[in-house]
Amino acid sequence: MGTNTDAVGSMRSVALELVDVWFRYPGLSDYVLRGVNLKITNGLTVIVGENGSGKTTLLMIMAGLLRPERGKVLFNGMDIFKEIRHVRGIMGVVFQDPDDQLFNFTVYDELAYTIRQMGFSEDYIRRRITEVSELLGIKHLLDRNPLRLSYGEKKLVTIASALVHDPEVVLLDEPTAFLSRRHARRIISIIKQLLSNSKTLIIATHDPCLLSIAKSVVVLRNGITETMSVTEAYNDEYVSDLLGLNRDCARDA
Ligand SMILES: Nc1ncnc2c1ncn2[C@@H]1O[C@H](COP(=O)(O)OP(=O)(O)OP(=O)(O)O)[C@@H](O)[C@H]1O
Ligand SMILES: [Mg+2]
Repeated sequence: MGTNTDAVGSMRSVALELVDVWFRYPGLSDYVLRGVNLKITNGLTVIVGENGSGKTTLLMIMAGLLRPERGKVLFNGMDIFKEIRHVRGIMGVVFQDPDDQLFNFTVYDELAYTIRQMGFSEDYIRRRITEVSELLGIKHLLDRNPLRLSYGEKKLVTIASALVHDPEVVLLDEPTAFLSRRHARRIISIIKQLLSNSKTLIIATHDPCLLSIAKSVVVLRNGITETMSVTEAYNDEYVSDLLGLNRDCARDA
């Protein structure tokens, strides 16, 4: 297992590592990622960047859902594509567009989908779905067709479905975008709860309130990444301009 030293000098295990990752979409000549080198340890890492800079693409590669043309993606030192079944069991992924992720006829079955595939008993599954749907405030939606929900409700359902199997690593693409501030606060408080349970969270976002609680910030620009601390991000003119970092997040903290 790889290690790296964080800002205060303590050793943390590396959850995810990208080594010289190059990626372009089939049929296109331009690369979205041009030699990304990145180490992600436990706690919250946020990925920021302009629209179209490649945040979603980077998250999909980290989830093993897109394969880079060149380079390595390592999960606790293992090649993610060789260990994909194992990685699926300990990773939860929330897509940017919930419609890309919802395909069951009821919210209950949507939440049950991953954990059923892992072979847990229906009793345990029901208990986990009750816990997680209470946490997300979506218990009243369990019998509904997920495709007929509002955008915000769909997003809460996809976040819930990524948490039911209690993953160690959670990748979230814009979890608070287009949500009311009240729902966004609920998501941020759940994220804090996950962090207090030592989970690794990687979040692509434009939400300054998520950045304010991060351990490190990955800035994606021109196909490469730069990792910085939150303080450095606040002092970086590009990031500050991108996210509007003068916003008051005290109520979300
Ligand atoms: N399936 C695809 N086929 C071809 N090009 C794609 C595909 N998905 C994304 N792209 C292109 O790749 C680039 C990166 O897109 P990506 O969605 O990763 O950006 P992003 O940083 O997540 O943007 P946003 O902030 O708008 O969500 C963009 O130029 C986009 O047009
Ligand atoms: Mg995106």
